[in-house]
Amino acid sequence: MLQPFFEWMQGLRFSAFFLESVWPTPIVQVIHLSTVALFIGSVLVVDLRLLGRGLIDQSISELTRKVQPFLLWSFVVLVLTGIPQMSSTALKQYYSPFFWWKMGMVFFGLIVTFGVRRYIASKEEGYFGLVWPKVIGLTSIALWTSVTIGARLIGLLS
Ligand code: HEM
Repeated sequence: MLQPFFEWMQGLRFSAFFLESVWPTPIVQVIHLSTVALFIGSVLVVDLRLLGRGLIDQSISELTRKVQPFLLWSFVVLVLTGIPQMSSTALKQYYSPFFWWKMGMVFFGLIVTFGVRRYIASKEEGYFGLVWPKVIGLTSIALWTSVTIGARLIGLLS
């Protein structure tokens, strides 16, 4: 169903520019990967806090509020640097199961990180008991870990 869209992306002048030039692709990849570190770090400090580890002298709501701009802006940079990589190799991505795996996990990760987790943080600590925050923390870690594994497998196996 999306094949015509990916064929269109592959044929763009923008995609040809990235394929034909030497520096733009590695520069974009370095920014993408460095931003992964910032994004995953911002995700993890809150997940660990939900598990009762790490920055336990800060409340969950305060920590969530403090990391929110880092989460948001690093995700924006990931999208902006993901687009040229996706567009210049659009057909490879379209036929890679790992690309679709990654995008699916990003979708669920966003729901957990920007939806469920923020909802938990908006209530008083203890409101959801001891178990639910831990379940959400572990779910978040599992989802974002599978995003990064899926992403690496595109390069290795597609
Ligand atoms: C929705 C936004 C995103 C798009 C469109 C995108 C797209 C891409 C593409 C096309 C690649 C190159 C894959 C290849 O052909 O080897 C890539 C690499 C990668 N991405 Fe993303 N990405 C996005 C978000 C993320 C996020 C949120 C993470 C992790 C938290 C992430 C982690 C990675 C990693 C680890 C690599 C592998 C780099 C390598 O193996 O050299 N990406 N991304």
